[in-house]
Amino acid sequence: MIDRFTTDRKATLTVDGRTFELPIVEGSEGEKAIDIRMLRGKSGYITLDTGFMNTGSCSSDITFLDGENGVLLYRGYAIEDLAGNCSFIEVAYLLINGHLPTRDQLRDFSELLGLFALIHEDMVHFFDRFPPGASPMSILSSMVSCLCNFYPEMNENPMDNIDMMAARLISKVRTIAAFSYKKSLGAPLVYPRHDLSYCANFLNMMFDSPVRSYEVNSTMVRALNQLLILHGDHEQNCSTATVRMVGSARVNLYASISAGINALWGPLHGGANQAVMEMLEDIHASGGDYKKYIARAKNPDDPFRLVGFGHRVYKTFDPRSRIIKKACDDVLASLGINNDPLLELAKEIEEVVLKDEYFIERNLYPNVDFYSGIIYRAMGIPVDMFTVMFALGRLPGWIAHWKEMWDDPNGRISRPRQVYVGPSQRDFVDIGQR
Ligand code: ACO
Repeated sequence: MIDRFTTDRKATLTVDGRTFELPIVEGSEGEKAIDIRMLRGKSGYITLDTGFMNTGSCSSDITFLDGENGVLLYRGYAIEDLAGNCSFIEVAYLLINGHLPTRDQLRDFSELLGLFALIHEDMVHFFDRFPPGASPMSILSSMVSCLCNFYPEMNENPMDNIDMMAARLISKVRTIAAFSYKKSLGAPLVYPRHDLSYCANFLNMMFDSPVRSYEVNSTMVRALNQLLILHGDHEQNCSTATVRMVGSARVNLYASISAGINALWGPLHGGANQAVMEMLEDIHASGGDYKKYIARAKNPDDPFRLVGFGHRVYKTFDPRSRIIKKACDDVLASLGINNDPLLELAKEIEEVVLKDEYFIERNLYPNVDFYSGIIYRAMGIPVDMFTVMFALGRLPGWIAHWKEMWDDPNGRISRPRQVYVGPSQRDFVDIGQR
């Protein structure tokens, strides 16, 4: 796909007295790249870029993100429009298929989701074998990884039935997430219902009980739809890059997504929403002196970071955090929570941080995770499920990227190089002489 955007222009690189011409590629939104694929073959040099701060690993037509101006587009549509007008299922369809669904297409997709909502009953027994307190993220990644054993059609040409597999995953991951919560409580499982929408079904599976029936709250459903949409995709973040990398070895969709779930688990990535809530609770429990925490975050000798701030790509407001902040106010108001101490604390921290030289100089703004936890908490979702919620939202993005990667005629196994700095070849020492 890169070739489609290759321009007539060339960059030149002079090294060891020799000059090399490298093609310049320009994306549809004007971002420019120097195509170095032939560099090592021609010059013997590789490029070094730890953390991939400056490396494009692929070209993609799924998501555009402009970190300087706070723009996020899925398939060309602004995140604000999608979050304001669509259901999560519509956006999932858009991400995976590249266009917004017609009414008929949406109905067909929703029917598939309904049809695939159950998980094989043998899998239900797996939940019993996890120890109490097992992390819901580890349960989710294990369960998703073993889906390929129950639904082996995956191992044939996956593009023949990608729609079915995508619907299967999106529907089953929701069921697995809700079941893992019920199991963690020792409560009876609540099975999916065919008459409820995707998000309403999830909330019902989480909170309905034989002794207290759950009334689906439309503000919660709307907020959940929004949260999942906002997490739907974010181009080559750590978990998505993982899905693509693992999939590039021609690994099946379920195993690739399972790898992405594990990448998302980290506190520097999707685990940040849980870490934000734990940090706010900590500050609140220790008397609310958030300035002490801000001072710690600024101290170069202290590894503590103000979680929920900063982003590898956004150097301004994360557009998702503005939408979430508003959704947060709506949910709390609809629940009659007028004065949530953690929300107040979060707002105060944001206000102070945005005026603080340390954060201004480093372009550290609130990210998507700063307010999402407060909404999840108000919905009754436990803190250790927050990253699972992120995974639910990110799933269509992962699927879209896996599909794009698989279908790319120029695609190759992802295999970075390195600069070796270890010992040069040395004589072997027998164990008796070491
Ligand atoms: N609190 C305090 N200082 C910070 C923070 C923070 N949250 N984030 C970055 N900095 C500082 C660093 O200490 C560094 O300072 P220095 O230049 O004086 O050494 C500078 O800002 C640049 O930070 P890097 O770590 O180099 O930036 P990077 O792009 O590698 O990291 C990351 C981005 C991981 C998101 C980082 O900002 C962070 O750790 N934030 C907190 C965790 C978080 O909220 N993660 C969720 C991200 S959103 C997502 O994944 C969905």
